[in-house]
Amino acid sequence: MSIVLNEQKSLFTLCTKTSMYQMKTDQYGVLLHTYYGKKTEIFDYSYLIQRRDHGFSGNPYQAGNDRTYSLDTLPQEYSCFGSGDYRQSALSVRYQTGARALELRVKDFEILEGKYRIPGLPSIYAEDGNRADTLVITMKDDVEDVCVKLYYGVLEDLDLITRAVCVENRGAAPVFLERVMSMCLDKPYGNYDWITFYGKHEMERQLSRTAVHHGVQAVGSLRGASSHQYNPFVMLSDRNTTETQGECYGFSLLYSGNFLAEAEKDQFDQTRVLMGIHPENFSFKLEPGESFWAPEAAMVYSDGGFEKLTHIYHRAFRNNLCRGRFKHARRPVLINNWEGTYFDFTGEKLLRMAEKAADLGVELFVMDDGWFGNRDTDNSGLGDWHVNEEKLGCTLAELSDRIHAMGLKFGIWYEPEGISEDSSLYREHPDWVLRVPGRNPMRGRYQLVLDFSRADVRDYIFDQMCSVLDRAKVDYLKWDFNRSISDVYSAQLPADRQGEVPHRYVLGLYEFLERLGKRYPDILLEGCSGGGGRFDAGMLHYTPQIWCSDDTDAVERLEIQYGTSFCYPVSTMGAHVSACPNHQTGRTTPLNTRAVVAMAGTFGYELDPGKLTEEEKDEVRKQIALFKEYYDLIQEGRYYRLTDPARDEHYAAWEFAKEDGSEALLCVVASRARTNDPPTRMLLRGLDEGVLYEAEGKVYPGGALIHGGFPVPEAKEEYQSWMFHFVRK
Ligand code: GLA
Repeated sequence: MSIVLNEQKSLFTLCTKTSMYQMKTDQYGVLLHTYYGKKTEIFDYSYLIQRRDHGFSGNPYQAGNDRTYSLDTLPQEYSCFGSGDYRQSALSVRYQTGARALELRVKDFEILEGKYRIPGLPSIYAEDGNRADTLVITMKDDVEDVCVKLYYGVLEDLDLITRAVCVENRGAAPVFLERVMSMCLDKPYGNYDWITFYGKHEMERQLSRTAVHHGVQAVGSLRGASSHQYNPFVMLSDRNTTETQGECYGFSLLYSGNFLAEAEKDQFDQTRVLMGIHPENFSFKLEPGESFWAPEAAMVYSDGGFEKLTHIYHRAFRNNLCRGRFKHARRPVLINNWEGTYFDFTGEKLLRMAEKAADLGVELFVMDDGWFGNRDTDNSGLGDWHVNEEKLGCTLAELSDRIHAMGLKFGIWYEPEGISEDSSLYREHPDWVLRVPGRNPMRGRYQLVLDFSRADVRDYIFDQMCSVLDRAKVDYLKWDFNRSISDVYSAQLPADRQGEVPHRYVLGLYEFLERLGKRYPDILLEGCSGGGGRFDAGMLHYTPQIWCSDDTDAVERLEIQYGTSFCYPVSTMGAHVSACPNHQTGRTTPLNTRAVVAMAGTFGYELDPGKLTEEEKDEVRKQIALFKEYYDLIQEGRYYRLTDPARDEHYAAWEFAKEDGSEALLCVVASRARTNDPPTRMLLRGLDEGVLYEAEGKVYPGGALIHGGFPVPEAKEEYQSWMFHFVRK
């Protein structure tokens, strides 16, 4: 059983394959957190809680004269503002009176078979064969009729626990929610590191590791999207945890909007982690009878370093978060015209590119930005989703048919949330954008943002999209979003509901994507936001792959894909071979290296194939054949980070290995050329000892590859790369 109760029904123990999580209702009905870590004996771990009389930490009235009982020092499952706990809280509400006190006490609980789902929000789901149970703990304030349900999804074999929160107003007056975090985790003991992923446009998800210090450390986004700047995935680890050893905890928020992840070390060296919707510019009004769901957080504990944590997330996200026909189907090798043409194309030009691409073995041709409205530059046309037949020289159906006749599938680009001031849509409906009354809006890439919290706006855009998608054969759709949201104000909501706009926007986005996916189940959706500005677990529920970064430079991609890989599987990372000198950095790398790096993702090309030499064309043909050969190993195998490209000076390396250890692919890039390079080897992982493997015509015992390693050849040119394939004999 994955959820175990004690006889008094006060101790809740959640068990996954290798982790254990425990909470206890104490004598006053407060839900204490007692354990999260390695799975071991089920026992009442509240013996570890030490209570002392601490000055200036208030005592609830219920505790009488017991000065040792204070919520300011106790490890709690879901802390509330106004309860005498002065640390960062999980929940903060305001009543009509202006008062903000909240003291939650456990009233009830329920164990449900299967994994709960959240209406309108993404969540991890159980597949046939997965063991999943749900624990719901209901807590209530004794004075105000505010009820909080804590949801725990225990996915035993996936080794993962999810959390979500539902707040209900059961009273007679409205209640305002001002902070509703999805999870709170108190660790009374231990010194931890706080690992986050920061970045910028064209350099996303760079790993940052710092010691948790006294005070609050936080990352988050107020950009309306999860952002290039900080990712909604963080880790807490022991100070000495490495890739393969030590304890760590992962927290992934399944949400694509404003978020906050905080670590606070308090006066008694206790660490609290909180994650959820960013409380800044957030408030949600609950009328009597209404409820609010905070998005899901997926938590993983690992006692085998970051690698084990990564493997747990990769498996769960691939199989139990992504959905639809493309979850496991082989994704086509694509070519995208963006870096090949930018806005400067005609139908004929695209057809010439497609013809050349088909000859190379490419399977899908994607027409990027610029095919609609008067969109010849990035300052016009967004919102006018009708085909620019003059530019294409034909209808979309004709273009698509001609591309299909070459044996290629056909895909197009959309930015449904964007609107240009120079568009018919904006001239007709200027009130459909997010804009603060009386102020000129902020421009971002010259464009404004449609108010996706509004159903009428979404319906209009949806109909526009359908009228295009219904008339031509489209196999793939890239959903882009090319600016951060500002001017957070919806013309449709009253003043006391403006704080709801960012969240309602995200709910609107999810509703739209859900509808689109249902209506066009055969279209492969790829998410994008100026590259990886919305690369999060929420989006992956709707789009099984996301364009990883607008930076296509192979060397920079080493770091971007490295950071991304901690939480997100290779099958979700959009990665393309582009032309050199690279358009973002000006760097020239060998074509082979560009392919080796892009093969650690969904793999495709983003260049004009007409500009390739005959020799390069032959190389591309071989790359595509190779990718197809290793497809299952790459996309479904286990991913191993063998080096940290930001720190290891000479070589960057990673490996894919089949779960049964029968096959592995070692990828190495000489990321920094040096004279008189010392000999280097890579220690392989995921193989079995005591069996033999063949690679490059030689046979090696598994143990030798694991403990002795595999020698890396000397680089003869800058950024040279290699792939070595190991097969069990
Ligand atoms: C974004 C995307 C690019 C491309 C352009 C088109 O920046 O990340 O891949 O689609 O928009 O405008």
